[in-house]
Formats: sequence, C-alpha cells, structure tokens
Amino acid sequence: MQREIVITADGSSTIHLPEWGEQYHSKHGAIQEAYHVFIKHGLHHYCDSEQIEEPHILNSKTDILEIGFGTGLNAFITLLEAEKLKIDVDYFGAEAYPVLMDEIKQLNYSKELKAENEVSHFNKLHEVSWEASHKVTSHFSLTKQNRFFSEIKEKDCYNIIYFDAFGARVQPELWTEKIFQNMFDALKTNGVLVTYSAKGSVRRAMETVGFKVERLPGPPGKREMLRACKEA
Ligand SMILES: C[S@@+](CC[C@H](N)C(=O)[O-])C[C@H]1O[C@@H](n2cnc3c(N)ncnc32)[C@H](O)[C@@H]1O
Repeated sequence: MQREIVITADGSSTIHLPEWGEQYHSKHGAIQEAYHVFIKHGLHHYCDSEQIEEPHILNSKTDILEIGFGTGLNAFITLLEAEKLKIDVDYFGAEAYPVLMDEIKQLNYSKELKAENEVSHFNKLHEVSWEASHKVTSHFSLTKQNRFFSEIKEKDCYNIIYFDAFGARVQPELWTEKIFQNMFDALKTNGVLVTYSAKGSVRRAMETVGFKVERLPGPPGKREMLRACKEA
C-alpha cells in the first residue's frame, strides 16, 4: 500500500495512507495525541495508581505492549519519559508491516520533541533486530515483535497496552470482542489499556470481555478517548 509522509497540525510528521484516507496518528497533532492518550492517560496514570516513583524496589518494572509499533513515535516518547521519571520500562512493539528505514529518516520527531540529543536512541529503536530484547537506555528495553495482532495469545504479561491500531472504519476486525479478549488476557491484574477511539461499539466490546471502561477527554480534535482497566 502506498505511504506518504505528511505534517500534522502540531508540526510533527506522520504517515498517510491515501488508499484508505487513514494516518498513523491524528492529523490534529501526532505528538500531542501520543502524549495525551498514551503517556498522560496510560503511563502516568498507571505509575500514579501503582505509586511507582523511583525504581528503588526491585521488580518495579513496567511492561508495555504496543498494538502497532509503526513509526516508533509512542515508543520514543515512552523512552524519553522513562529516562525523565527514572522508571524501568520493558516495551514490546507488535507490528506486522514494519515501516522502512527510508521513511523513518524523513520523520521529524527528535526535532519536534526538542530531543535532538536523543536522535541516536530513536534510530536505535528501528535498527535493533526483531524478536529479541535490547537495552536501548538504562531505563528502557525494547522487543519488537513482527506478528499479527491476532497472534497475541500470552497471559498476564503486561501492565499497560497502548492500543493504537488503525481505525475501525478501515480495520473493523481489529476492534472486536475477540481481539479485546486477547488484550484482557494479556494484561496483568490492575493493568490498563488506552486507545484514542471512543466508539460506542468499541466500549461495549471491551465491557463484554470484562474491562471496566472510562471515557476521558480526547486529544485536540477528538472529544473523547477510552481507558479500560482489568480490575482484580
Ligand atoms: C495507527 S498505526 C500505529 C502507529 C504507531 N503506534 C506509531 O506511533 O507510529 C497502526 C499500525 O498497525 C499495523 N498493523 C495493521 N494491521 C495489523 C495487524 N493485523 N497485525 C499487526 N500489525 C498491524 C500497521 O502496519 C501500523 O503500523
């Protein structure tokens, strides 16, 4: 499928799929969306609720699964946050159709995030091999998994899931009870799943498989988003 690099409203780039009229991030701002949905309402919320501050206690590692590694933007911002907050993150990025290095080089995330000194870390996210764990910084390890979301069958593995699939308009098969059952099973107790979507059918599918779902204010350009918790 054809892919084009475009600039979103906050100045950060994303990939546009002309055939589907779909993008990897919100056209209202890729970086703003990533911070709002996945960092603020995902990572920060989880750390606050678990009272994870500095990781003095052994085993206070946070395991994050990303549904759709894509450009690596969510992974990069999480790496920057892990360093800032001094929390240990093991990050797992599932992706069936990896973005090409040629495309990665055209993305402006280090500049737009004012993290030019960290550009080598962004590149490393893409250079490391798949299916193996790599320590990218002292607080952030990455395992890229080249697989389909339907193949995610692990149990009680993750504290947080960033559910960042393309929208239900173009990939309705990824927003079903079956997929959310797999996500529910893959989370540990008290784990949370966050997504930019706020569709009623998505919320109902999450509730049917056992999630407690909250509607939260969305990022710029979107009224609401969803956070689903696997309660004890
Ligand atoms: C919205 S984009 C993810 C954006 C990404 N989180 C980022 O920060 O760039 C959705 C991703 O899901 C991947 N994808 C689509 N269908 C898939 C499937 N069935 N299994 C695994 N990956 C899939 C696409 O290749 C794309 O990278």
